[in-house]
Amino acid sequence: MIGVLFVCTGNICRSPSAEGVFRAMVERAGQSGAFRVDSAGTWNGHAGEAPSRQAIAVAAARGYDLRDLRARLVTGADVAAFDHVLAMDRSHLQALRKLAPAGLTDRPRLFMESAPHAGPAEVIDPWGGDDAAYERALDLIEAGCAGLLERLRATSLGA
Ligand code: 4NP
Repeated sequence: MIGVLFVCTGNICRSPSAEGVFRAMVERAGQSGAFRVDSAGTWNGHAGEAPSRQAIAVAAARGYDLRDLRARLVTGADVAAFDHVLAMDRSHLQALRKLAPAGLTDRPRLFMESAPHAGPAEVIDPWGGDDAAYERALDLIEAGCAGLLERLRATSLGA
């Protein structure tokens, strides 16, 4: 199994959206059995909560169901447990490198490196913004997830 963990701040907007999108893409590709997909946050202020109302609504309009996801805090053990640890912005990358066990500080990467042609290096926080901010974040998340799946199928699944 290939472990993929998406990380943002609260684990109620960006990373659960990425989890839902990537899981749906993996299912469509018939590769569900090959992946373990999860998300977590660098701050525990929303731990136990479902994704934000806007994140759920904007994702639902594109066919992704985020309703059953629950926020949790990321740990150093996560960095060891997941093969791919993907930070939504540079603050998460920095936090993850600090949490990482010795020898694994290079494992966390910026999520948008998976889709360099999309433009931005980070998925900016939509929290507190209007629906358009969530739509823009989801555009980048879809591009990043598609690029990630393409790369992993080529490098890890031999497809
Ligand atoms: P996320 O968005 O990191 O994409 O889940 C945020 C949600 C909540 C907060 C910050 C970012 N907050 O500070 O409460």
